[in-house]
Amino acid sequence: MLGNFIYYNPTKLYFGTEVDKNLKDALENYGKKVLLVYGGGSIKSNGIYDTVIKALKETGKEVVELSGVMPNPTLEKLNEGILLARNEDVDLILAVGGGSTIDYSKGVAAGAFFDGDAWTNFWLQQKEPAPDQKIIPVGSVLTLAGTGSEMNGGSVITDEKNKLKVGKVFGERLIPKFSVLNPEYTFSLPQNQMVAGIYDIMSHIMEQYFSGDDDSTSDYISEGLMRSLIASSRVAVKDPKNYEARSNIMWIATWALNTLIGKGKKQDWMVHMIAHTIGAFTHATHGMALSAISAAYYRFILKYGEHRFARFARVVWEIPSEGKTDSQLASEGIDALENWIKEIGAASDIEVLGVTDNMLEEIAATTFLGGGYKEITKEDIVAILKDSLKRNKNNL
Ligand code: NZQ
Ligand code: ZN
Repeated sequence: MLGNFIYYNPTKLYFGTEVDKNLKDALENYGKKVLLVYGGGSIKSNGIYDTVIKALKETGKEVVELSGVMPNPTLEKLNEGILLARNEDVDLILAVGGGSTIDYSKGVAAGAFFDGDAWTNFWLQQKEPAPDQKIIPVGSVLTLAGTGSEMNGGSVITDEKNKLKVGKVFGERLIPKFSVLNPEYTFSLPQNQMVAGIYDIMSHIMEQYFSGDDDSTSDYISEGLMRSLIASSRVAVKDPKNYEARSNIMWIATWALNTLIGKGKKQDWMVHMIAHTIGAFTHATHGMALSAISAAYYRFILKYGEHRFARFARVVWEIPSEGKTDSQLASEGIDALENWIKEIGAASDIEVLGVTDNMLEEIAATTFLGGGYKEITKEDIVAILKDSLKRNKNNL
């Protein structure tokens, strides 16, 4: 393992179907007043809301509700939550939902007692809360497997007016203190959201895996997670209520982005950077923006990390390597990824997300730059976006 690092994660995970018992156990550790944060109402139609309210009542909590957190939560909504949490002086924020609701709750927890403009300080300037600033603890009940927000410090907020979607990875004080993971809670997801979540997980693993040349345990763990994800995804898309597959997917999502598999790695994250900008322009579902750009991005950087892409083909996709060069294998690995994107029903080009030719330069201009095997320039991004648009035309 290269590099010096600390691994610490404060999230207590409760996995399985015993939500009532688990949630009550977790809630006992916090004060009386709870801010219950959720999205557009899916938790009311699938019964999750009732279970959560029952546990809150039975543990004697006073509940303040904050609903309407939209997918890709906005700055305007964040500021509304910050004000409410400050005025109500809550003891715990309980996020019930997917990544948007949990990310949002962390933002509210960070901003409630910050003296100044939270967006500028935490997201634009990427600062951490001062050690003496009060932070409201966050807990979660997860309803969509994908982002890993249930066990990480990530909080992605969109400034609609300025078309900026910015992720802040907070330190350990904002990582959820506990998360309740019941795979059955993901059964009510629409198929496209389940698929978007699955691709988000794959992308998180690939963003960390496609970097570095050393022999690292992190990569072996990543390969195991990817193999398990691919196997379970194939079951879940045909049989969405298959508990075995959905429980694997939920557990993989958590381990894909709780910093474990990134240890000792440079990491890449350009697929996410480009997808976030696409999201800011089109409101595209996060996982679909990732799948739409991935094949074009990886073909673009293939030659800079050929050896790793060849290993990806061999180990993850089990492509026979005999008689093939690294270059051939690498390319076949990306073909396999692209075929899987289509097989599970994820977006395979950016045109279906609503991206048009005249947006490309502006998307490239507002994307944060970085890279793994190659440092990406704005010109590179335009070329990658054009390739993704062209893919659609070629497929017609
Ligand atoms: O709003 P509700 O009614 O809850 O409906 C949601 C929403 O419409 C629905 N949904 C969630 N669970 C459901 C359900 N519908 C029926 N049954 C259920 N059990 O699904 C829709 C999407 O939910 P959302 O929370 O937006 O999805 P996701 O979990 O994919 O989160 C996406 C957000 O997370 C950010 C993304 O950028 C995006 O803003 N990310 C956060 C990361 C992190 N914290 O580390 C990393 C990721 O890369 C990502 O950037
Ligand atoms: Zn993601």
